[in-house]
Amino acid sequence: MYPESYQESLKKVAEKREANAFAEPRRMTAEEKEQVLAENHPDYREDEFEALKVGPNKGEKAPHELAAMLQAHARIRPGDVDLEHPAYDVDVLILGGGGAGCSAAIEADEAGADVLIATKLRTGDANTMMAEGGIQAADKENDSPAQHFLDAFGGGHFMAKKELVRKLVTEAPADIKWLNDLGCEFDKDESGRMVTTHGGGTSRKRMHACKDYTGAEIMRTLRDEVLNRQIPILEFTAAIEIIKDDKGQAAGAVLINMETLELFVVKAKCVILATGGAGRMHYQGFPTSNHYGATADGLVLGYRAGAKLLYQYTLQYHPTGVAYPDQIYGALVTEKVRSLGAKVVNKDGDIFVHPLETRDVEAAAIIRECKRGNGVPTEHGYGVWLDSPIIDIKNGEGTVKSRIPAMYRMFEKRGIDISKEPMLVYPTLHYQNGGLDIDTNCMTGVPNLFAAGEVTGGVHGTNRLMGNSLLDVIVFGRDAGKAAGARCKEVETGTLNLDHVEAFEKELREAGIETDLVSPKLLPKYVRERTVLEGPGIIQ
Ligand code: FUM
Repeated sequence: MYPESYQESLKKVAEKREANAFAEPRRMTAEEKEQVLAENHPDYREDEFEALKVGPNKGEKAPHELAAMLQAHARIRPGDVDLEHPAYDVDVLILGGGGAGCSAAIEADEAGADVLIATKLRTGDANTMMAEGGIQAADKENDSPAQHFLDAFGGGHFMAKKELVRKLVTEAPADIKWLNDLGCEFDKDESGRMVTTHGGGTSRKRMHACKDYTGAEIMRTLRDEVLNRQIPILEFTAAIEIIKDDKGQAAGAVLINMETLELFVVKAKCVILATGGAGRMHYQGFPTSNHYGATADGLVLGYRAGAKLLYQYTLQYHPTGVAYPDQIYGALVTEKVRSLGAKVVNKDGDIFVHPLETRDVEAAAIIRECKRGNGVPTEHGYGVWLDSPIIDIKNGEGTVKSRIPAMYRMFEKRGIDISKEPMLVYPTLHYQNGGLDIDTNCMTGVPNLFAAGEVTGGVHGTNRLMGNSLLDVIVFGRDAGKAAGARCKEVETGTLNLDHVEAFEKELREAGIETDLVSPKLLPKYVRERTVLEGPGIIQ
């Protein structure tokens, strides 16, 4: 139920709804996009970034919150870890039990490797599980991987590594089939053909979905397959340091039992980092749509071990996070709502942006509209209306309930019927565009240290399109598993050491960095701290 103070604005939105439903808002020109981004997108705020003083990306900028973690102390003193008596000795150690980790585990197992998954929370507690709208793949007659490439590469401001985008788009159709064959329940029409829709910045309808809980269904499928294969999993077990050997190769990890705080060592011929994203870093004070465990751990682990980052300074703010009610503040309102026809309107019910601009542009336009005084005030800042009742007007009554049931339920529980009333939204921290730099075999700059999924950078340039992250975790998760599964057959592991941790501490001292912080962060802790127009939020 919306408060009395919103009723006047809601009345205006309702009055203009019919006209807005059939309006065709124009797309921004390239110049207009550049301007709205430069003036409003959080990535362009110079005061929110600093130059790194140590490590492989020394001299490059990173958000303050990430810089603090990358330049913090290790959680262990190397001398306190018994490297000579590993608790486990495996071929492939996978750090992370989300979409990328499970996909990697399945393929490494398929390749005959002895696999172990360690995951900080429970298997599937990951951003994959939270993903809603869909997964892209060019598998219809009017589409092609080349077309998908152009959309993804352009949407990422031509900054992505072309060889990675090429893999993403060419492997997509086969990976959708792989998921389907594993039992993933994609939406299909009466003839059994997959239903596909548009996302922001797509030139063809190539978004495959499982209603509006696509990630949960994909995660269920992958987790079932991992369980069926009896791949061992250590739950509530976080990695706190990569172990290397005397040849400079990754050779395992120091893990911590999150309940008992016991430390132990896993020796491995190959290590795959699949630790996911960073929304719980709450950059610039933004709320997040991310899972509780998304604290940039893999970036820290890889960085301290000597792996370079790419585009660590670019984040994705999903245009439509919940701005009201408070209990679900920052939660994701899927882009599918807009792809089904909902329009984004201001407090007077006026459309101010095309609903399917690329995400960075859409988010920046919403922030600008609020700065202009056309937003609806909330406890945290402002919001604009996402007029969801238009979906039923355009597609027939019942569409909201049948196509976006999770959205319907999330608001219904709070007394708001989104088939009749709009949703109040504002950008929410959603995705880490940058991350560990990898080659086409998913290997980082450290030999035998692989990475896949949101922990990596380069696949999406500086802005990802909807549906390309679920695709990324499957494509690169599988590829990392295959590559590590093959590579481990050739690896001769030398003597284990944590010399890089000592060396990093020395670098910190020499750079004059004084800090009490330790990293990786592992879990966020919450205190409400600030409310600002650009980034209303809860930060640590
Ligand atoms: O809007 C969404 O459903 C999010 C999808 C994505 O980030 O790919």
